[in-house]
Amino acid sequence: MNANSPSAAGPAAAPPRVLLLHGPNLNLLGERDRDTYGSTTLKDVEERTAALGRELGAEVHCAQSNSEGALIDLIHATRGSDDGIVFNPGAYAHYSYALRDALEAVTGLGIPCVEVHISNVHAREAFRHTSVTAPVCQGMVSGHGIFGYDLALRSVLHRIAEWREARAAR
Ligand code: DQA
Repeated sequence: MNANSPSAAGPAAAPPRVLLLHGPNLNLLGERDRDTYGSTTLKDVEERTAALGRELGAEVHCAQSNSEGALIDLIHATRGSDDGIVFNPGAYAHYSYALRDALEAVTGLGIPCVEVHISNVHAREAFRHTSVTAPVCQGMVSGHGIFGYDLALRSVLHRIAEWREARAAR
């Protein structure tokens, strides 16, 4: 059963649409600190996540910005257009209350978000041990390399299917 199967979401349900969002410096994946983040580029991450989405019956679209305001606008724009978000906020995870509030606003409307960190943030510098955004997300995946995006997408699609099922039963 996938997230778009009739039993999960009703026969007329549209394929779940998920925003794969990346924050600052993640446009440099593949060239930046390869010992920590590996050699996979952002384009590769986006393509493989979109391919997994297709396999699971979902539509994944992608965006990246180095700017906090642009990320907030992209999160707001999921209202009425997306069913879920997979988000690697980069360093903003550690201190951006503005991003936290934007995420809280959309998750409160029933758009689940899973936070991803490629590296294990808990095994790194102390300032990375805190995420101010993770508490308003469904959960956080950290330290699984780019495989973490697969886990996050599967988890967000599972949550979307559960919520659709619950809405259909009402
Ligand atoms: C990161 C971890 C952050 O601490 C860091 O600032 C990043 C990447 C990760 O994917 O491991 O930019 O989000």
